[in-house]
Amino acid sequence: MKPPVGRVGDPCVMVIFGYAGDLTRRKLIPSLYNLASQQLLSREFAVIGMGRTPMSNEEARKILTEDIKKFATNPVDPDLWEEFVRRVNYTTGEFDDPATYDNLKALVDKVDKENNCHGNCFFYLATSPTFFGSIVERLAKVGLMTEGNGQWRRVIIEKPFGRDLESAKALNAQLLKVATESQIYRIDHYLGKETVQNIMALRFANGIFEPIWNRRYIDHVQISVAETVGVEKRGGYYDTAGATRDMVPNHIMQLITLTAMEPPISFEANAVRDEQAKILRAIQPFTDEDVLTKTVRGQYGEGIMNGQRVPAYRSEQDVPPDSRTDTYVAMRLMIDNWRWAGVPFYLRTAKRMPSRNTHVVIQFRQAPFMLFRETQVQHLMPNQMVLHIQPEEGISLRFAAKTPGTTMQLGEVNMDFNYEDYFGTSSATGYERLMHDCMIGDATLFQRADMVEAGWSIVNPALNVWKALPPRNFPNYAAGTWGPREADELLERDGRHWRNFDK
Ligand code: BG6
Repeated sequence: MKPPVGRVGDPCVMVIFGYAGDLTRRKLIPSLYNLASQQLLSREFAVIGMGRTPMSNEEARKILTEDIKKFATNPVDPDLWEEFVRRVNYTTGEFDDPATYDNLKALVDKVDKENNCHGNCFFYLATSPTFFGSIVERLAKVGLMTEGNGQWRRVIIEKPFGRDLESAKALNAQLLKVATESQIYRIDHYLGKETVQNIMALRFANGIFEPIWNRRYIDHVQISVAETVGVEKRGGYYDTAGATRDMVPNHIMQLITLTAMEPPISFEANAVRDEQAKILRAIQPFTDEDVLTKTVRGQYGEGIMNGQRVPAYRSEQDVPPDSRTDTYVAMRLMIDNWRWAGVPFYLRTAKRMPSRNTHVVIQFRQAPFMLFRETQVQHLMPNQMVLHIQPEEGISLRFAAKTPGTTMQLGEVNMDFNYEDYFGTSSATGYERLMHDCMIGDATLFQRADMVEAGWSIVNPALNVWKALPPRNFPNYAAGTWGPREADELLERDGRHWRNFDK
């Protein structure tokens, strides 16, 4: 076995609330197993899963052993798996029943002793968001959040963290009454993606980009998170959220802040998060008028995708036939600081786009044209750097080159760096780093209270105006197209265009 690269996670018990959900089988358990196979999981580690269906530890382990065959991202070593899975325990409990927490406390103590977990414990709340606040309160009430004598207690909270600014503030206040900020790990799975983390490496580990990464050289930035899927079986949740709440204050804000932030003074959690928070605070708040001119919302109607007819959003399972929920959003944001004054950041995210593609386009200012006036060149294409987040993972740079021949003619060429070519295919779930960071107490890739609130402050004016002015033209784009016409006009008014990647 190769020695571990990095610090081994602290001994600890991990308690998963909402254990029966898909997240456990698809992401959490495979990522813990991956950590174990990289020797980054302490041998003094154990899991307690909490669900509703009664079953024994043995039964729960058997189910996991079947699941891992489907969801492992790496070949499973039977001995290592056996060693891992016997540290998984199962219990039942209702989240709103005080007895659940007394039982859990006794079980945590028992499992801790059996596995020598040093009193450390983290709680992963993969539950409906309505329970986040009360679970943490109840944990604290029975002493499960109490630190001291070298033992730590942490809680990982899934999204959505609130549904607007007010509810996010209320949830923060509720949590911070019974836990300290350093105990709260608000997760955003985008920060677990290698290509998202790579934005910092690209910007700060290379001398050539930082000098041109500002308003003098950059014309504008586009951030697109396009998905081909519809709402699948999540209509119940999605219809109460919509594209804006689901993606913008969280995932898209991560992409914006990492792209736009100043170099932090270190990779220490607060040093990085301070810089991200400054960007969020520098984004100009929308006035009501701005919401009308700088945002576009949309909802998909039926359409053709891959030759198949797919239903309109309003015909999806658990979606009301007159739903006004957005499945598309585009916005034009301005960051009011010295680096970015005057540089628009256009963002968009949607379901049922023609291709699945998450990327950041940095468009540089165009070179002066005068030299080419007397040539056959009609116009110059500005340079673009594209950070491909997924499914393509890499970076490409577009520039002009002379096409061979006797006259001056230009062609567009791309210089491509593809992650896979250099580093092989990724065999991670995207949760390894986040789980491991929580085990070693590194909150750099987690959201601080102020960041979550700042993210909501940015979208809140739009949510309010949209609520007051229900959309009259929904559905306004067909599934399998690049969204409503108004979203193209948002850029065309500025003489710009979205860059779409068709595959
Ligand atoms: C989730 C959203 O947070 O992110 C989903 O709730 C969305 O609606 C998903 O599909 C996208 O994540 P990824 O990793 O597939 O880009």
